[in-house]
Amino acid sequence: MEGSGADVVVVGGGVAGLSVARELARRGTRTTLVERARLGAEASWAAAGMLAPQVEADARDDFFNFACSSRDAYPAFADALREETGVDIELDCTGTLRLAFTEDDEREHARRFEWQRGAGLLVEQLDAAETRALEPALSARVRGALRFPREWQVENRRLCDALARACRLAGVRVLEETEARSLNVRGGRFVSVETSRGTFGAGAVVVACGAWSSLLTIETDAAPPSPLAPVLDANVEHSPRIEPVRGQILCYAMRENEPLVRHVVYGAGGYVVPRRDGRLLAGTTTERAGFDKSVTEEGRRAIRLCAEGIAPASADLKITGEWAGLRPRAEDDLPVLGASAGIENLFYATGHYRNGILLAPLTGALVAEMVMSGATPAPLAPFSPARFIAARRAESEGSCFTPKLHRKNF
Ligand code: FAD
Ligand code: GLY
Repeated sequence: MEGSGADVVVVGGGVAGLSVARELARRGTRTTLVERARLGAEASWAAAGMLAPQVEADARDDFFNFACSSRDAYPAFADALREETGVDIELDCTGTLRLAFTEDDEREHARRFEWQRGAGLLVEQLDAAETRALEPALSARVRGALRFPREWQVENRRLCDALARACRLAGVRVLEETEARSLNVRGGRFVSVETSRGTFGAGAVVVACGAWSSLLTIETDAAPPSPLAPVLDANVEHSPRIEPVRGQILCYAMRENEPLVRHVVYGAGGYVVPRRDGRLLAGTTTERAGFDKSVTEEGRRAIRLCAEGIAPASADLKITGEWAGLRPRAEDDLPVLGASAGIENLFYATGHYRNGILLAPLTGALVAEMVMSGATPAPLAPFSPARFIAARRAESEGSCFTPKLHRKNF
């Protein structure tokens, strides 16, 4: 067996794996990062970069608190990355608008405004004239908006670049074009990872393979599980099920020095995100299409309609790019962060679904802390992989597990 010389191997070089590897190395851990292709080239590249927990939230819950803390960590995170690497991740604090087009939208906005203001969160309610005064290119059909001054955006491709440089500068051994094929488990403990470049032993492994996280197999020497102890079945019990959910994006070129909008704007069924370099990203779709990353005619049409509903003049802008990415979704929509329920020294940093960019600062810091201390930081407790054990048990006993789908998403 080839030793990686590492205390920890991180598998997957998207924003999740990069954030964890950087934090591990900064804390003095010998870290190897294994990436099947190129760093930051999958969902983390395809994303729109919004840092916006309030826009979508109907109530305060563990996820909301976690997401707000991660968002609030962004200014210091951006400063630290700039200091470490010289890369500006273009944290833009103009804010986010959520538009109302119908009476139903207005009622929903009134509810959202009341609970968020009551909870001490920053949110403003604007009428039609105020909204259009702020963003003149918005549709005349807009009846008002919620403005979220603390809902920001970041250039996620620059973020991946900054994290990759920070990892290398902190001493992470980065292995691109290296596919992890399986994790070897002996006596209930992770011992090594089989890759396309050989087998690497390490003290611990962090699985951060995004939408592909469930494809990593676990080779265990454990006896087949007894029906009395289903919790001990490594392949079934300990692997969270992560599925790919496709999102498509169209990229417009705005007129030079003439941004169509300055805020991130959520409209009916989608959003537009203006970038500093003159691009306007418009999204998106939410599709179960397996691992297919195609952009489809139906997707293009839906996104164009949504963008024109927000800002009709987008119809006159040239479309200069289009792409799709695969969001990693767990069965309850929540991230999977923490120690495996049954295999020692195996950790997960995956399932970030629609919010992996937003959650990068806390994912990196808290998963690294957990790997090093062995204790679960309190904010990670609700996202433990152990929560799926009850579901797996119910399945093995023949009852039907109904995923808790509690968030309404764009
Ligand atoms: P990825 O970035 O997909 O990285 C996983 C990596 O693991 C890949 O590089 C892959 O090659 C590698 N890998 C997989 N299997 C193996 C293996 N066996 N061995 C080695 N390497 C492997 N989030 C936000 O917070 N804000 C947004 O505005 C936002 N907008 C989005 C818009 C779209 C259209 C999409 C698709 C997503 C959006 N997201 C957004 C979600 C966000 O992109 C994801 O949650 C996040 O990028 C997930 O990061 P990741 O590192 O887990 O996955
Ligand atoms: N969070 C935006 C998206 O997933 O499309």
